[in-house]
Amino acid sequence: MLYPQSNPLRQSIDLSGFWDFRFDPEDAGLSAGWANGFTGGYPIAVPASWNDQFEDWRDYLGPAWYQTRFDLPWGWEERRVYLRFGSVNYLAEIWLNGVRLGQHEGGHLPFEFDITPHVKREGNLLVVRVEGELAPDRVPPGNVPPDPLDTFAGINYPDTTFDFFPFCGIHRPVLLYAVPYDAIADLTVVTEIVENRGIVRVHLDRTTADSATARFVLRGHGTEVMAELPAAEETVEAVLTVPGAAFWSPEEPNLYELAVELMRGGEAFDRYTLPVGIRTIAVEGDALLLNGRPLMLKGFGRHEDFPITGRGLVPAVIVKDYALMKWIGANSFRTSHYPYSEQMMDLADRLGFLVIDETPAVGLFFREEGLERRLELCRQYVRELIARDKNHPSVIMWSLANEPHSKRPAAKAFFRDLYDLAKSLDPTRPVTVVSMLGETEEAFEFCDVVCLNRYYGWYTECGQLDKGCRKLSEELDALHAKYPKPLILTEFGADTIPGCHAQPPEMFSEEYQAEMLTRYIEILNSKPYVVGQHVWNMCDFKTGQSVRRMGGFNYKGVFTRDRRPKLAAHRLRELWTGEGTKGG
Ligand code: GCU
Repeated sequence: MLYPQSNPLRQSIDLSGFWDFRFDPEDAGLSAGWANGFTGGYPIAVPASWNDQFEDWRDYLGPAWYQTRFDLPWGWEERRVYLRFGSVNYLAEIWLNGVRLGQHEGGHLPFEFDITPHVKREGNLLVVRVEGELAPDRVPPGNVPPDPLDTFAGINYPDTTFDFFPFCGIHRPVLLYAVPYDAIADLTVVTEIVENRGIVRVHLDRTTADSATARFVLRGHGTEVMAELPAAEETVEAVLTVPGAAFWSPEEPNLYELAVELMRGGEAFDRYTLPVGIRTIAVEGDALLLNGRPLMLKGFGRHEDFPITGRGLVPAVIVKDYALMKWIGANSFRTSHYPYSEQMMDLADRLGFLVIDETPAVGLFFREEGLERRLELCRQYVRELIARDKNHPSVIMWSLANEPHSKRPAAKAFFRDLYDLAKSLDPTRPVTVVSMLGETEEAFEFCDVVCLNRYYGWYTECGQLDKGCRKLSEELDALHAKYPKPLILTEFGADTIPGCHAQPPEMFSEEYQAEMLTRYIEILNSKPYVVGQHVWNMCDFKTGQSVRRMGGFNYKGVFTRDRRPKLAAHRLRELWTGEGTKGG
């Protein structure tokens, strides 16, 4: 699914700004006809969560209504016009000029409608109903009835099965875009390396099969390679060979520009340009190889989370977070626990970060009720995520879920289904499940990489880092013995109150977090099969309320929520870059 772009042959406009908004606590809007427009609204910022924009609606999860008006730009009358939402959490229903376009379930992934038959030259009214209710047959689930085996139920408010606040709203840009009727619908790029040559395979999907010519031009690093092919089908395959290619890596994130054009009579009538990074990713034995060389991922589990905007897109925070990750010596992050914005992914390509790209499937449980629906939603998310992010060189792995409660027999088949689906859509990347179970996570039998979250010395062995670290080291060896494949410790950390100090270190002090991360990293560096260390979390973030979350926050960040470093940030910088140490 290509991100809309503007050039002389296609245009995109952004409807971000202040929209009209109304909460609908009585759920009266549908019957009151708000789909045709409503009165009594007030301004809301789009994109952003609604939870922190108003005085006292933080814990309200919907329904709520948005509306905005727009005219079509000059010259769009003869074009095919689409309406695209980058992310609406959780369920969105859309009307244009009173016509119901449809709905989409699941936040953090884009969806779009062909509005050509319904859009007018001017005076268009766009209405969106959003609700983020928590339910057992949704993904991620919530309001799950308590059960002796599933200890996650009923410990948070709002009652999530996951540890972050269920922000609601239109979280990313809403775009209108126009393309010719005969247009480039999608591009799939796969790269290979043969000696010093880059092989770039491009699959082009078109909206029609009318006869035309497809031109592919790859430019960059003093090279220009072109292929011009007859296009008489809905798909076209091109192979471009780049001699002496500049490969993509975190150290040198070399990108080329791929320009694809559809032409007739020597004239281009559609064009799409896409950055291309020539790189390969593979698992071989206990190693994760980028361009044939072993990787060590250093970085974080993260969240899209910021004061007031909640889960909404904040471009300046993206720039800041990459600057801080560069400063600290990180080369990688996981999009825990949902796909991040296209803007975040584009900068990972440009700045050279290795991304474990995760679906929104967190807190899954495997009791019968709602299980089939949860599997359908997970399949949808795998398809939507791969369709959106398949062309990013920075994406080196797909994560099907975070910390599923897999203790029940249905879990293994559930993840086998999703693993096979992911591989069928993208055979080029490793696929994993991020687990808290360890040896009893049966999905590790077929996952390409073992990803484990561990907090010995925090949730257990409290205050006893020696004991916790011994337990960690022994378990990693046992897990690798059972599943001999590369292993990433995808989460480890400690809640830390900024300014809280203790010597000797004590839980919640900055010294304890720094000491725990240091001891864990020493162990990880001693295991040849460990290919990644992701600290939990990069920044403090908003959660629901619970006895474990003071003021409704998770304080495991090595930076505060407004991005100020704790002692552990300096310690990680020393460990990951050698800077700041005497010999650094
Ligand atoms: C889990 C979970 C995180 C959570 C963390 C914690 O591993 O994956 O989402 O925030 O533990 O308890 O801090």
